[in-house]
Amino acid sequence: MEALPRAFAWKLIVVDNEYHALKGKWKMMAEKLLEEAVRARLNAYAPYSRFLVGASIETENGNVYSGCNVENASYGLTDCAEASAISAMVTAGERKIKQMTVVTDASELTFACGACRQRIYEFASPETIVHFYNLSGKHESKKIKDLLPNGFGPKDLLSDKE
Ligand code: THU
Repeated sequence: MEALPRAFAWKLIVVDNEYHALKGKWKMMAEKLLEEAVRARLNAYAPYSRFLVGASIETENGNVYSGCNVENASYGLTDCAEASAISAMVTAGERKIKQMTVVTDASELTFACGACRQRIYEFASPETIVHFYNLSGKHESKKIKDLLPNGFGPKDLLSDKE
């Protein structure tokens, strides 16, 4: 594994948002998620947009999965980083996202696209937090219920027995 870029000295910076609410092991895992998302981002295949994105997931079981965006010459076939991370999680046999991290190099924070909010919602609880970072140290954390209010999901199609 190559070393993290120097820009990541900022990763312990505490900012005024829901990150403060993270405690103990959960906060430590949020830092691990950041590191994993940063690493995954370095593998992004984004020759067309040159917008590299890394994502990572901590599941309810405490395991971590990561993903990057994978573009295609047929642009519409592009996979977002969030989608790749979710695929890695499901492939490994897990389905419950506890928290998630997304990293870009945009000067202003960017938040998950609409399609990815829906993808996350499928495997999240309403309180699941998604952390967004850029490489300059900006950071905000949001609950999926705020990213996708009134979301349509498994609860609308599956009975409690399933
Ligand atoms: N992208 C992501 O990976 N996640 C997002 O939430 C937004 C967009 C990727 C898709 C494409 O490769 C590039 O960023 C520009 O849209």
